[in-house]
Amino acid sequence: MRENGAHVIVLGNEKGGSGKSTTAFHLAIYLLYQGFRVATIDVDSRQQTLTQYIRNRVAWAKSHDLKLPLSTHYHLPVSTGDSVSQNHREEFEVFGHAVSEVEDDFDFLVIDTPGFDTNLTRLAHSLADTLVTPLNDSLLDLNVLARIDPESGEPRELSHYARLVQRARKERLAIDGQTIDWVLARNRISMLSSRNMRLVQTGIEQLATRLGARVANGIGERVIFRSLFPIGMSVFDPLDDPGIGNMATMSNMSAHKEYRALVDALHLPVSNRAKNRKEARQLWSKSREEGPLVFDHMMPKSS
Ligand SMILES: Nc1ncnc2c1ncn2[C@@H]1O[C@H](COP(=O)(O)OP(=O)(O)OP(=O)(O)O)[C@@H](O)[C@H]1O
Ligand SMILES: [Mg+2]
Repeated sequence: MRENGAHVIVLGNEKGGSGKSTTAFHLAIYLLYQGFRVATIDVDSRQQTLTQYIRNRVAWAKSHDLKLPLSTHYHLPVSTGDSVSQNHREEFEVFGHAVSEVEDDFDFLVIDTPGFDTNLTRLAHSLADTLVTPLNDSLLDLNVLARIDPESGEPRELSHYARLVQRARKERLAIDGQTIDWVLARNRISMLSSRNMRLVQTGIEQLATRLGARVANGIGERVIFRSLFPIGMSVFDPLDDPGIGNMATMSNMSAHKEYRALVDALHLPVSNRAKNRKEARQLWSKSREEGPLVFDHMMPKSS
């Protein structure tokens, strides 16, 4: 784990809709509330869910006169060029520019990647200090990491994505001798126990051992996430605030607890960054007086 520079958390999984963007947003907001300096990068240039989540937050905060913590956010330009390779080159340049801008001035950098393999997705993975792979609770989702034996739940051959992570780990080790802490986080866990669920549980644990990853306690299937996205809120925001919509129900409080447990399970280097926290807290309180602490950076196009 790096002592200096931003600790990089990457959300990755080639399976669409597994909860990467939702988790990226929640981790960023949690760390902001802890007083850390947090930057976010949305590498998903097609869907831009994280970018939209943050924009929804800015819009809601503005229209309801709420002062909410916000990350310094970067997103890729929508590629308009005719040449695919030219567009890729531009994306690489702006990504590199964003990373170098935040590296020394932030405690955490949270990167959300798309549900498909691009060169930029690979690069982002090799920068990860912590890689979080949310997995929906089904055998189908485990297939994104390895082919699972339907009878025993045992992992068979590794998938494309698992090999991508293995390569990123090797690259990372060769470049700066650092390891990537890979955490598999179960998501949308059904409240009803079933044989299938038990198979998934066994499958994930065996897979994690095989992949050199850890398994984190996951997040249940909860309707609140549908309501949070349009208003740009997280379970870490004061959901009992009338401006947010009185959403402090039992189920939502459970969602809060589960996300909190997930953050703890990530073992993020919060204590060695605590010295910066005081300064960040001061900035944050100052920002409450002056307006939201946010900059939505459209990454500049290279000339
Ligand atoms: N624990 C949960 N309970 C219920 N719904 C959830 C949960 N986590 C995420 N969702 C919902 O699942 C959908 C997909 O989530 P999200 O966009 O975060 O996935 P993703 O992995 O980023 O998808 P993509 O691969 O398309 O980028 C969203 O509608 C989100 O609100
Ligand atoms: Mg996404």
